[in-house]
Amino acid sequence: MQKNRYWRLDRNPSGNDFAAALSLQEADLLPLAQGEVRLRNLYLSMDAGTRMWMGPREDGYQPPQPFGAAMSGQAIGEVIESTDAEMPVGSLVRAFGQWAEYSTFRPDEAWAVTLDAKTPDIRQHFGVLGLNGWTALYGLQDIIGIAPGDVLVVSAAAGATGLLACQIGRLLGAQVIGIAGGPEKCAYLKDRIGVAMAIDYKNEDVAARIIAFGKEPTALFENVGGEILDAIMPNMALHGRIGICGLIAGYDLAGSMPGPRNFDQVLMKRLRIGGIFLPDVPEKGPQFERTLADWLKAGAIDLPFDMTQGIENTLVAYGRMISGKNIGKTLLKL
Ligand SMILES: NC(=O)c1ccc[n+]([C@@H]2O[C@H](COP(=O)([O-])OP(=O)(O)OC[C@H]3O[C@@H](n4cnc5c(N)ncnc54)[C@H](OP(=O)(O)O)[C@@H]3O)[C@@H](O)[C@H]2O)c1
Repeated sequence: MQKNRYWRLDRNPSGNDFAAALSLQEADLLPLAQGEVRLRNLYLSMDAGTRMWMGPREDGYQPPQPFGAAMSGQAIGEVIESTDAEMPVGSLVRAFGQWAEYSTFRPDEAWAVTLDAKTPDIRQHFGVLGLNGWTALYGLQDIIGIAPGDVLVVSAAAGATGLLACQIGRLLGAQVIGIAGGPEKCAYLKDRIGVAMAIDYKNEDVAARIIAFGKEPTALFENVGGEILDAIMPNMALHGRIGICGLIAGYDLAGSMPGPRNFDQVLMKRLRIGGIFLPDVPEKGPQFERTLADWLKAGAIDLPFDMTQGIENTLVAYGRMISGKNIGKTLLKL
C-alpha cells in the first residue's frame, strides 16, 4: 500500500518550539470515501494563522487542531484519485489539506478550487492569486475602503499578506507606510515596492517615525497588534479606519490578547475598526481572483517566495515564517 508521510500535532507548542509539538509520521493511504479527493502535494503554504489552531484557544475563528491528527494547512497539488466529477484526476487544485506528501479531503469542506495550470508560476496561486491576495484586497477595498489620497499603514509589511496589502494599497491610490523587522526588509519595501516610508520596528521608534512622515495615517491594515498597534493608534487621523487582519504578536498566548493600551483613541479620534475574514464573503472570490489576475498579468503586482524543500523540512519553513526570516510568501516545495 502507498505510504504517506505527514506532520502530526502531538501537543500545543510553547513559543516557537515546534519540534517538540509536531512529529513526522508515516501511514498507509486508505481507499477514498465517497466524495473525497486526493492530491499529491506539490507545495504547502506556511500561514501565520495556523499558529492559532496549534494552540488551545476555543474562542478563535477556527477550532483548535486536534492532537494526534495530521496538521491541516493549505496545499497545492495534482489530483491523483477522485470521487468528485468536478475535480478529475490530473487537475491542479488548491485546498485546505494536510502537511503531508498527500492531502485527502472533501472539496466542499476544504475550500478546494481548481487552478489554472497555465499560470506562468503556479506558486502565485499561493501568492498574488492566493488567499493572502484575496484577503488583502477584501480588507483594503471592502472593510477599510481605501480611496485615492489615503495614508495607509501596513504592519508585517514584508510578509505575504503585508507585501500584497502595500501594493494593493498603492494601486487603490494610497500613500503607504510599511512597518517590518530589520533593514533588509525596509530596503525591499522602499526600493522594490515603492512605499513612501518603511519603518524598522526592531530598530526604530514607530510612533516617532509616523509623526515624522508629516501626514497622519487615515487607514491601517493591521497584521500584528501589541506594541505596534499601541504605537500607531494615537497617531491616526480623525475618522481613521482600521482593518484588523491579524494579531500575530499574540498567537502564541494561551488566552486572548489584551486590547490596545490606548483604546480610548477610538473615541477621541472617532476611529472605525473592523475585522477582516475572507470566509465571510466566499461569493466574492471570483471577483477578487479576476482583479488580482489582471494586475499580475499587467505586471502591476508581484510577490517573492521564500522556499524550503522536502517534507522533512516543513518545520524549518514554518519557523522561517513565524520568526520573520521570510520576505514574501513562505512555501515548502515537495
Ligand atoms: N484574517 C485573515 O483571514 C488572514 C488571512 C491571511 C493572513 N492573515 C494575517 O496576516 C498576518 C500575516 O500572515 P502571513 O501568513 O502573510 O505571514 P507573513 O506575513 O508572511 O509572515 C509572518 C510575519 O509576521 C511578522 N511577525 C512575526 N511575529 C511578530 C511579532 N511578534 N511582532 C511583529 N511582527 C511579527 C514577521 O515579520 P517581521 O520580520 O516584520 O517581524 C513575519 O515575517 C498574520 O497576522 C495573519 O494571521 C489573516
